[in-house]
Amino acid sequence: MDIRISKHGESTVLCDTAIIPFTEGIEISEGLLYLDSDVEAMISYLVKDKIFTGKKEQIESFRLAREENPRNIILVGLGDDQCIDQETVKLAISSAIRKAKQLKSKVVEIHQIFNSCSTSSKEMVSLVAKYTILSDYDFGDYKTPKEDSVDILEVNILVGPDEDMSILEKALDEGVMEGQSICVARTLVNEPANIMTPTMLAEEAKKYGKEYGFDVKVMDEADIKALDMQAFLSVGKGSAEPMKLITMKYHGNPNDPEIYGLIGKGLTYDSGGYSIKPTDGMHTMKSDMGGAAAVIGAMIMVASQKLKINVTAVVASCENMISGHAYKPGDIIGSMAGKYIEITNTDAEGRLTLADALTYAVKEEKATKLIDIATLTGAAIVALGEKVIATLSSDDDMFAQFDAASKLASEKIWRLPLEKEYKKMLKSEVADLKNSPGRPAGTITASLFLEEFTSGLPWVHLDIAGPSWTDKASSLCPYGGTGAGVSLLYHFFKKSSY
Ligand code: BES
Ligand code: MN
Ligand code: ZN
Repeated sequence: MDIRISKHGESTVLCDTAIIPFTEGIEISEGLLYLDSDVEAMISYLVKDKIFTGKKEQIESFRLAREENPRNIILVGLGDDQCIDQETVKLAISSAIRKAKQLKSKVVEIHQIFNSCSTSSKEMVSLVAKYTILSDYDFGDYKTPKEDSVDILEVNILVGPDEDMSILEKALDEGVMEGQSICVARTLVNEPANIMTPTMLAEEAKKYGKEYGFDVKVMDEADIKALDMQAFLSVGKGSAEPMKLITMKYHGNPNDPEIYGLIGKGLTYDSGGYSIKPTDGMHTMKSDMGGAAAVIGAMIMVASQKLKINVTAVVASCENMISGHAYKPGDIIGSMAGKYIEITNTDAEGRLTLADALTYAVKEEKATKLIDIATLTGAAIVALGEKVIATLSSDDDMFAQFDAASKLASEKIWRLPLEKEYKKMLKSEVADLKNSPGRPAGTITASLFLEEFTSGLPWVHLDIAGPSWTDKASSLCPYGGTGAGVSLLYHFFKKSSY
């Protein structure tokens, strides 16, 4: 899909469908919509007769007896608030795009969203582009296309005659990239584990590095052994698929001593190992690399937007499987940090791979601040569900930055405490610590385990077990991977870069 912007009245693109967003109670004066007068008259009667009032989420469409420019009119309500926020744009655009698809539109124009409040045209253009792309996303790779299916090929966002187009073009690029990088993350998750192996994930990282301008280094088992990443090795050794340590580097501000270490959980499949998962919990476990997908999406964003910031991303990617080579409950394993870990549950594997990735980011890549993002605990789903990212942090300032980024990204986060009193739950009779202390406070104890490997650096942990996947399709996101975390990380880095 191609997205562009043009000034109202100056567009030369012929469209088949016009999406016209309205606030409640808008007066339709002649020429306001830049449409032919008979079409404008039709719309004003719909408004006058209160068929269409502009109420939030209201959609009204009609079809004109002509070929195009436009042939379908979709009116979408924005509600009565003058300050149109991101949530409103999200809902309006996603339902309008769904309608446009139902009407088999190929070329769509989206009229300017009028609002007299804080959201600038710049932000509006970004948001419209982002949510148009997200609503259009479809992971159709393994479904034979229906004969009569039609894709939206072109979208033209119309803006007012007085806008500064160079500013808006930049905003458009940002919104388009945000939408596309979220879709990249969705697809990485949606590809099944027989395709999206650690090897494939590394190849994808390389591909995007080349395309958007970040360096990618991939290490294999021999290198991982040389680094003494015993915890990571223990998780990956039960699988026939070779494990990969993927490092992605974008240093956009070489004079700045700060290097963000960004770690993503990259389990391309999690069977649970010998502490095997029940069947019901297993078939979606290709999504256990959702953290890695978010990290790759975020790297695409920071590099494409050329942020003045240094980020080194690390993904320790492998499968958690059962075999004669697999690690077992009761094993005592080492780690790159030198700590010994008693394995009480092989299904608490993510924290083991993350522990070594954190150590690697600090020791080898000289990270000064740490962020990790992971589909880490079922307990995070129990606590916060599908819509809220469980967030734990050793640093109030970093958390505050994430809180602010959360609003810009329209991704909700909620802070849980790194409760010191629960640290004793990690104690082991036979080793420095155990990997799984049991059910109570599962998200917190997983975080306390990770904290042991952060070298005391400022650190934020994002548990996206809930938000990274959806069983229920919506107009904004189909069944499967959601791309959770991409926008959040990008807006965090953007805020931290000036
Ligand atoms: N990948 C899972 C967590 C998960 C569960 C993500 C459901 C998405 C949906 C993780 O490796 C895991 O199995 N965690 C265990 C930890 C427990 C053994 C301490 C869990 O949450 O049950
Ligand atoms: Mn697991
Ligand atoms: Zn897992």
